[in-house]
Amino acid sequence: MEPSADRPGPPPGSVAAVLPAAGSGQRFGAARNKLFAELAGIPLWMHATRRLAARPEVGRIVLVTSESDREVFENEFRDECRQLGLEVVLGGQERTDSVRAGLDALAGDPAVRLVAIHDAARPLIEPQDLFSVFTAAHATGAAILATPVVGTVKRDLGGRENCNTVDRSDLWIALTPQVFRIDWLQQAYQRFRGRPATDDAQLLERAGYPVTLVPGRADNLKITLPEDLAIAEAFLARTTQHAPN
Ligand code: CTP
Ligand code: MG
Repeated sequence: MEPSADRPGPPPGSVAAVLPAAGSGQRFGAARNKLFAELAGIPLWMHATRRLAARPEVGRIVLVTSESDREVFENEFRDECRQLGLEVVLGGQERTDSVRAGLDALAGDPAVRLVAIHDAARPLIEPQDLFSVFTAAHATGAAILATPVVGTVKRDLGGRENCNTVDRSDLWIALTPQVFRIDWLQQAYQRFRGRPATDDAQLLERAGYPVTLVPGRADNLKITLPEDLAIAEAFLARTTQHAPN
């Protein structure tokens, strides 16, 4: 669905994307950051950045890297970074430190109304989901892609010898992008005192902002383990097969 008078999406160029890419890929276990592993012939990190760069709503893209990988982006991938107009900034120890660094790079730009945080390690984000979550955030100020929990969820009641079943009817798995009004996210980060958080929406929730859940594709997976790459290859092959020419 594209913007219309009664349900407009964000204006062109008003969304800034921040891609945290400053991890080291410990669980993936390769010699260098998993983001440089090839998926369908190109490095993992390029998939999400190209897909975001293709959206008219996205005016800036900030890629947050570690000190050691910054050189790789600025040398080995210089041309691609230039072509996509990427701004490369230095991240930190925790993912929240990296997002904060990306957010700081956007401070004072009046063109940026919304910030879309998207894991560089999620290569399969589809244009339709980008449009849905951008539009929801434009309407409410804070929206995240999420997918309903489909499995049966058990709670360990102690020592794995006793459990009960959790009602899953209102449970969702948080995905990215997570898209927020820039001033709300800035405030949430100002109030953040380092209490661990596994996503950015959690910081908004703590600061008292309501966050909208936007149903997204369950195949928007994050590459964490080596076997995830094979699953992503299979998803990509399927998309290519069915894509109209
Ligand atoms: N990330 C980041 N800064 C950190 C940690 C993570 O920017 N200090 C980024 C990663 O590069 C990745 C995304 O956040 O794109 C999601 O993190 P995750 O999948 O956990 O990646 P890694 O931290 O690299 O992997 P691992 O936890 O296995 O080491
Ligand atoms: Mg990690």
